[in-house]
Amino acid sequence: MTADADPRTERRFERMRPLSQGVASRLAADDVPAGPTYPGLVQSIALMRFRHQWIPHLHRKYGDVFSIRILPEGRWLVVFNRPEHVREIFAGDPEVFHAGKGNAILGPVMGEHSLLLVDGAQHKRARKLLMPAFNGHALRTYESMIEGLAKTEIGSWQEGTPFRSLDRMNALTLEVILQVVFGVTDERRLAELRPLVNRTVNVSPAVFLGWGFPRLQGFGPWRRAFENQVALDRVIYAEIAERRRETDLESRTDVLSRLLLVRDEDDPSGGGLTDEELRDQLVTLLLAGHETTATALAWTLHELAKDPAEERKARDAATSGDGDHLEAVLKEAMRLHPVIPMVVRHLMEPATIGGIDLPAGANVAASIILAHSSETSHPDHDAFRPERFLAGDVAANTWIPFGGGVRRCIGAGFSLMEGVAVLREVLSVYDVGLPAGAREVPKVRNITSVPKHGARIVVTRR
Ligand code: HEM
Repeated sequence: MTADADPRTERRFERMRPLSQGVASRLAADDVPAGPTYPGLVQSIALMRFRHQWIPHLHRKYGDVFSIRILPEGRWLVVFNRPEHVREIFAGDPEVFHAGKGNAILGPVMGEHSLLLVDGAQHKRARKLLMPAFNGHALRTYESMIEGLAKTEIGSWQEGTPFRSLDRMNALTLEVILQVVFGVTDERRLAELRPLVNRTVNVSPAVFLGWGFPRLQGFGPWRRAFENQVALDRVIYAEIAERRRETDLESRTDVLSRLLLVRDEDDPSGGGLTDEELRDQLVTLLLAGHETTATALAWTLHELAKDPAEERKARDAATSGDGDHLEAVLKEAMRLHPVIPMVVRHLMEPATIGGIDLPAGANVAASIILAHSSETSHPDHDAFRPERFLAGDVAANTWIPFGGGVRRCIGAGFSLMEGVAVLREVLSVYDVGLPAGAREVPKVRNITSVPKHGARIVVTRR
């Protein structure tokens, strides 16, 4: 360990070793619906690297429900996609349908209090305390700051020169997280945070896996990633301590300032979130909210650039202030290009889904890839048709990019508001086109599916 590490950082790494969580129960093939029979390692790799081809292939071969063998051996993922099955998964009792377990690998970075990692009563409490910072009233207070950041970003674009919109959207959504979520506006602190946060976001799956082995922590990429965490924690804890001393929190419009004011009504001492809880939730919001929103925006710009008629309609909407149309454009791009492939729950007790009895220990997934490409749910499913969202043609549990139930993405409203604000700024200044020969296919990057070539676009001032 590093001599100058905050003891809280060291404690987190000690406690959150992902592989020490173990497998609660090993299941056999006949405990779950049929699926491919190759070894868990092969199936886990196929699921991680080739999901856009492999999951639709399994659907064609096995039908609407199938099971994938995943590592460690003895674990299974039962994949569903029909709207009625998705509804049952989302409505499942949170004490039985756990979500945090599957994210244990993120523990050393996100921390034990992370909303993504906790279950049951702990999740209920954290969600209740975080929710007010993401309700409609709070979202409206973030909007003008996001517009300002988008204007600055867009102002730096070079007309006529193709560029990777994914990179520009990543830079912009990172700024949104730092300034609107963390509430940091001091340029010196921003300059200190940007590289630390970038390195945190870019931690590779190999580093995450390696944290299960304490001895690796002293070497190469694991040591560098740990030292980066030590440095990031130091800045975040300093920011929290300084912010606690501020007397104008009520008038501040950022997520951290709001979180500092929340009080737990069920706690007799009326306590709020501790420094460690705040750190864990901030890093969670950063990791969950930055690349996801940037990716959705890059796919949207790609689709508009590809389709001049839809681009013209979106530009008209931006000029006339028709936010509903812009939201439909964003939602349709998220339908065609799911950023996250599936949401998973771990069964703590036996449960029945779609009439199929499943044992405790099974993992169940609602496949976003399959739900969004269903021809029954979304006629002409390969086409980019934002109007389907305006005509009320999209039924419940068929468009699920943000998951659902008590675990539905807490930042869903935030990212839609951010996406619409960014599109409005881009399209009221520029015409967006596709550079000659540009094409796109999804590429897996950690958990998200990003446009492989960075969604290159070319802009011309209107
Ligand atoms: C296009 C952008 C985004 C997508 C596609 C997305 C997708 C998701 C999905 C699929 C889940 C899991 C839901 C489930 O298990 O049912 C989730 C959870 C979560 N998301 Fe997002 N997200 C996005 C943006 C954001 C933003 C902007 C934030 C915060 C600023 C955020 C914070 C979170 C958190 C904290 C959770 C955990 C919720 C819980 O377990 O209670 N996300 N997101």
